[in-house]
Amino acid sequence: MTLSEIYSLLWADYVAITPSARRIHRLMEDRGERIVNDHVALRTFNLEPIGLESIAAPFRARGYLESGVYDFPEKKLRAKSFAHPGRGVPYLFISELKVEEFSPDFRRIVGELVDQVPQKAIGTVELFTQRPAWRPIRYRDYETLLRESQYAGWLAAFALRINHCTVSVNYLSTFGGIQPLNDWLIEQGFPMNTAGGLVKGSPETLLEQSSILADRIEWEFAEGERREVPSCYYEFARRYEDPETGGLYDGFFAPSANKIFESTDSAAQ
Ligand code: NI
Repeated sequence: MTLSEIYSLLWADYVAITPSARRIHRLMEDRGERIVNDHVALRTFNLEPIGLESIAAPFRARGYLESGVYDFPEKKLRAKSFAHPGRGVPYLFISELKVEEFSPDFRRIVGELVDQVPQKAIGTVELFTQRPAWRPIRYRDYETLLRESQYAGWLAAFALRINHCTVSVNYLSTFGGIQPLNDWLIEQGFPMNTAGGLVKGSPETLLEQSSILADRIEWEFAEGERREVPSCYYEFARRYEDPETGGLYDGFFAPSANKIFESTDSAAQ
């Protein structure tokens, strides 16, 4: 499967549970914009066979090169970013939760999920394209995870899939920057992530980012129990020229990413 085929499948899966992303996409196209995806974010647990490196392997095999390593001690996460030499191929941001830093109950629940990952999908993109990687989690287990990590709750409920896609502000022609774009999104009625300010980062950090809060959708948990929970969100990123390379900055700024993670927090909504 080519990268473009993989991303089409992942995009369809993502917008199916993120109606706001589809709506924003359409509203922008109505203004005459052509939307370029800056980056795709994937989340995982640091347990084999789905640790960060295992998830990254099929993407490395398709030409992605590591462009940065990040640590989020407060959220018990680490991450790597990847860039692809091909034109118009999105950056990839893969994070993993350090499961060993959580309570025994938490580790047991997560272990039961990871044990279900189909053997034949291990090390392939089928982990993402032939979902879900595990059966629906019990709602009370979801709540147990949420108490210790919002990230874990999201990942347990939605399994391996795109957490968010990102509109590249560099390629937009009708907005004039990330701030006017945010104003427009607010006018259109999209609730924004304001953790650490509406715009995270600055021209000095070479990357400015903002995001809407995750959509809330009705989702099915174990035994057919349906609950309304935060799903995925859409992000917006503007990159600046990196004086070291003369090209656009290809990494991420950890303090901003730290706040962007909170777009799926249920408490933020
Ligand atoms: Ni992002």
